[in-house]
Amino acid sequence: MTSPTPFEQLGGADAVRALVDRFYDLMDTAPEAAAIRALHARNLKVSREKLTMYLTGWTGGPPLYEQAYGHPRLRMRHLPFPIASRERDEWLWCMDRALDGQPMPDEVRAFLREKLHALADHMRNRPDAQVGPDDLTPG
Ligand code: HEM
Repeated sequence: MTSPTPFEQLGGADAVRALVDRFYDLMDTAPEAAAIRALHARNLKVSREKLTMYLTGWTGGPPLYEQAYGHPRLRMRHLPFPIASRERDEWLWCMDRALDGQPMPDEVRAFLREKLHALADHMRNRPDAQVGPDDLTPG
């Protein structure tokens, strides 16, 4: 007897696909995600495929992403895209809503949320814009 993986607990391949589709539907339409939408390709089909493959392996299912593309090196692959706190927060805004909309045990949702927040934070690669004295001067 082995304990079920998060992949199994959240509902397997169809559930991961549904989660990712909801995530990108939100990114594609919500003003709250406009900054990160602009970083992505016009057509999100490849992004949907890749995130589905990645999350399948990441949650303990078959390592589809690695099989297709090799070691994820996720932070390195994101370096071309400027990701500061704002971009991280927009990504998580979409992901938290997608998780909320996907039926799964509450403890599994909480576990995934915590891990994804840490991962998204780790993806930051630019300093946040600083508010300096000039920004405070009226006119
Ligand atoms: C923190 C905020 C994040 C931003 C702004 C962001 C943005 C992006 C962008 C712009 C791309 C290129 C895709 C395209 O052009 O359509 C990408 C690719 C990707 N992202 Fe993210 N991402 C973030 C966090 C994450 C996290 C937390 C994960 C994993 C859970 C992830 C997984 C991926 C994967 C697997 C790819 C495909 C990489 C490849 O093979 O090219 N991203 N991301």
